[in-house]
Amino acid sequence: MIIKSPLDIIFRDLFYRLRGFAGGHDVFLKLEGFNISGSIKVKTAIGLIEDLERRGIAKPNETVIVESSSGNLGIALGLVCAIKGYRFICVTDSNATSANIRGMKLYGAKVIVLDDRDSDGGFLGNRFKAIDHILRSEPNAVWLNQYDNIANKNVHAEQTANEIAGEFETVDWIFVGAGTTGTLAGVSERLRQLFPKIRVVAVEPVGSVTFGGTPGKRNIPGIGTSIRPKLADHVKPDRIIAMDEERTVEACLSFVRNYHLLVGGSTGAVLAAMQQLAPEFSTGETIVAISADLGEKYLDTVYNPDWVKSVIAGNTKTLAET
Ligand SMILES: Cc1ncc(COP(=O)(O)O)c(C=O)c1O
Repeated sequence: MIIKSPLDIIFRDLFYRLRGFAGGHDVFLKLEGFNISGSIKVKTAIGLIEDLERRGIAKPNETVIVESSSGNLGIALGLVCAIKGYRFICVTDSNATSANIRGMKLYGAKVIVLDDRDSDGGFLGNRFKAIDHILRSEPNAVWLNQYDNIANKNVHAEQTANEIAGEFETVDWIFVGAGTTGTLAGVSERLRQLFPKIRVVAVEPVGSVTFGGTPGKRNIPGIGTSIRPKLADHVKPDRIIAMDEERTVEACLSFVRNYHLLVGGSTGAVLAAMQQLAPEFSTGETIVAISADLGEKYLDTVYNPDWVKSVIAGNTKTLAET
């Protein structure tokens, strides 16, 4: 295989069959972490920038792209902007992995890392304030706004959903971690058209407000929000699973032991959700889940017992006490 650009490194038909994973049922994990920049978000990054270009809003060497990201979209945009010739400013927070922050900088991005949480325990309010400040001070700045940008949904309807549909004759269950809900909205929209009986399961962390939960401190980046993303209006999941971070970490660890793949934090939540709903699966059903990234960049957090003890276990105790 000869590639013309790093952006050609996207694995569209990579599914790991997990034998007997959920209540004895096999499930299929769509692996997005082998893509360039390490996650599903490279598709989102390309989709958002190409959408601006189609609409004549972005011009290379002139436009400054601005975005709020928990890290994976940030590094993907860093790469896309470097290749296409845009300056890029990313606003992120201290939950982002150091690998993503350092990677963004290496691609030439300016990275603003916020430490101060909003009063509800999240960072999104402060991230939006920082974006607002940049937009007022940078005349050529354009905010992609992945939380309310239909191009974020469309890229997953046109690509991720069709990649799944191309692999299976039918899909009975689809499990998707929800951050901006772009993946969830796009994948569920297209798969429902193709497989009307499909059950769509949204997975978010405890402490996320997207589907009506109570706001709370979260520590694993990628899924969950402290301000409901507008894209969520486009999705009506059949089931919503709020997974606590302790079970998410346990799912990651047992997956490494039993299925020998170091997966990212949000994948742990999705895996735990599949095991939770396993009693509802029937023999012969096709069960698919999306794994957004891999685990190497979480070695100092999700896979570090000291971090888990002080941050996750401490958080659960705090929530229980208050
Ligand atoms: C690791 C990980 N999982 C899941 C998601 C959720 O994707 P979406 O924003 O499309 O809901 C993200 C988004 O950044 C992510 O980085």
